Amino acid sequence: MLLAMDDIHFYEPSTGHGLPHDPFKAIVAPRPIGWISTLSASGIPNLAPYSFFNAICDTPPIIAFSSSGPKDSLTNAEATGEFVWNMVTRALAEAMNASSAPVPPETDEFTLAGLQTAPSRIVEPPRVAASPASLECRLLQIVELHDLDGQPAAYQLAIGQVVGVHIDRAYLRDGLFDTGAAHPIMRAGYRDEYVEATPETMFRMMRPGA
Ligand SMILES: Cc1cc2nc3c(=O)[nH]c(=O)nc-3n(C[C@H](O)[C@H](O)[C@H](O)COP(=O)(O)O)c2cc1C
Repeated sequence: MLLAMDDIHFYEPSTGHGLPHDPFKAIVAPRPIGWISTLSASGIPNLAPYSFFNAICDTPPIIAFSSSGPKDSLTNAEATGEFVWNMVTRALAEAMNASSAPVPPETDEFTLAGLQTAPSRIVEPPRVAASPASLECRLLQIVELHDLDGQPAAYQLAIGQVVGVHIDRAYLRDGLFDTGAAHPIMRAGYRDEYVEATPETMFRMMRPGA
């Protein structure tokens, strides 16, 4: 059924959304969280969440996170050519949130958030020991985003190729990673909203012809 024009709130972002709060991130939701660990050029560990994040290729595996200006994660990834993605679960939500505090580059957010580190195997930045899965990455490129007029956008996109994958065997069932059992959380729309994936919220659907 086609909705009547009056039933649709339409806006052009360039002229404003006309709502109390920008709905963009509530519409493109839930978004997976890139919990990114890096090392500074002088070796200080850094950890921060990025919800402008996703996997963008599987052959080879490539992931990307987008930074509003050159925050520490982007600066470190650019300086060292390395970053690690860590899965955020419901049990780690509060620690993830603590790691998003606006602190200077000298502050180690692993310590700030009370998190144990675990060594990576191929790259230098440590992993979040309690994450069910982590992805070691080498930086491919940093893309300066631009708008339709060629003006710089507020964000820069860091793209990395996954060169090492860690999976906690507790979440492997018959060789399959049990996403629901890991209870990953995702970012929803407004300031404080999240979604948790659980075994109950997972469902199955085969692709046509598959
Ligand atoms: C769930 C969540 C998602 C976030 N997503 C982003 C994001 O996509 N891009 C961004 O620039 N900041 C994002 N932030 C804010 C950063 O985590 C925050 O600015 C942090 O201090 C950056 O740390 P860093 O300077 O150590 O990299 C997010 C915060 C939270 C809690």
